Amino acid sequence: MTLREAVLAALKENQRDWVSGEALSASLNVSRTAVWKQVKTLIAQGYVIESAPKKGYRISAPADLLAAEEVCPGLATEVFGKQDYFYYREIDSTNNRARILASEGYPEGTVVVAEMQTAGRGRRGRSWYSPLNQGIYVSVILRPALPLKEISRISLIIAVAVAETMESELSLQPRIKWPNDILIDNKKIAGILSEAVTDMDGIEYVVAGIGLNIKNRVQDFPDDFRTAATSALAENVGSASRVKVLQGLLLRLEQHYQQLLAGKFAVTLAKARNLSLVIGQDVCLEAVNGVIVGKAMDIDDNGFLLVCDHQGITHTVMSGEISVLASRE
Ligand code: BTN
Repeated sequence: MTLREAVLAALKENQRDWVSGEALSASLNVSRTAVWKQVKTLIAQGYVIESAPKKGYRISAPADLLAAEEVCPGLATEVFGKQDYFYYREIDSTNNRARILASEGYPEGTVVVAEMQTAGRGRRGRSWYSPLNQGIYVSVILRPALPLKEISRISLIIAVAVAETMESELSLQPRIKWPNDILIDNKKIAGILSEAVTDMDGIEYVVAGIGLNIKNRVQDFPDDFRTAATSALAENVGSASRVKVLQGLLLRLEQHYQQLLAGKFAVTLAKARNLSLVIGQDVCLEAVNGVIVGKAMDIDDNGFLLVCDHQGITHTVMSGEISVLASRE
C-alpha cells in the first residue's frame, strides 16, 4: 500500500469524522508534512477533504471517482476490470488507449476509464462530449473466439448491457436505436463505439468503448448536442452514483459476453428486440451502399437489421445511421 492509499484508507475509515494530522503521522510512521502532501494529492485527484487547525482532516462525501480503489472492491465481475484496470483523470480517448494496450497484448477484460477525454470519439468521425467527472468514459478489451460474421452480435450485447444497467442502476427506461445508441424519449444518453482489429484468422480484438451521460446539465452540452442529448441528471436521477453505474455496466457486459461465447446469443437478442426503438417503425437508413427507406422488421440472428422497402424487398443491413420517420397518421 502506498502512503497515499494509506492516508485515503484512514480518512475513509473515519468518514465524516476528523482525523488529526498528528495521529495520522504517528500511525503511518511518517512526518506530518508527508501526510499533508498526500492529502494535497488526493484533493487534486478529486477527493473532497476538509482541513482545519487543531482538528486535522475530514473526508466529507463519497468521492464518486472512477479510480480502481473506488470501483474494484465492489466489482462483482469474474474477469472484466479484475486484473488490469487503467484509470486516468484526463486522456485523449479511452478507446485510443485501449487499442494501444490491446496491440501490446493486454488480455481480455482490460478496462480503461477516464474522468475526462480531450478527444473523445463517437461513431462516423464525430466527437464525444466528455467533461470532467460528469460522464463515464470506458473502454474494454475483448478477444472473442468468434467467426468474423458474428462480429455485429458484439455491438448488440454492449447495447443491451448499457440499457439494462440504466434500468437497474438508474431506474430509467431506455430504448436501443439500432445498432447502438441508447435513448430516453428520443434523446441520447449513451453511445457505443466498438472498434475491431481483424486478421486472416478472424477477430484479433475488439475495443468496446462506451460513453454515458450521468451528471451533465443539459445547458452544458455543446449547442449541436443540446436538443438531442440527455443525462441521468437531466432525467431527474439526482443521486446517480457513477461508481455503481460502472460496476453494474461491467458486470452486465461480462454476463452477456459470456452468454454470447457460450452460444446463448438468443437470450440477449430477445432482450435487444424488446428494447428496440426501431422495430416496427418506418425508417431511413444510410447504409454503406446507399439509403434505404422502409419498415424496420426485425434484428436477425447475426445482429443485422432487416428493413423492408416500399417494393417489398427485404434488406439485411450490418451497420448504418438510422432515423425513425414520423408516422403519417
Ligand atoms: C457514438 O454514439 O457516437 C459513440 C460514442 C462513444 C463514446 C465513448 S466514450 C469512451 C470511448 N472512448 C472514446 O473515445 N469513445 C468511446
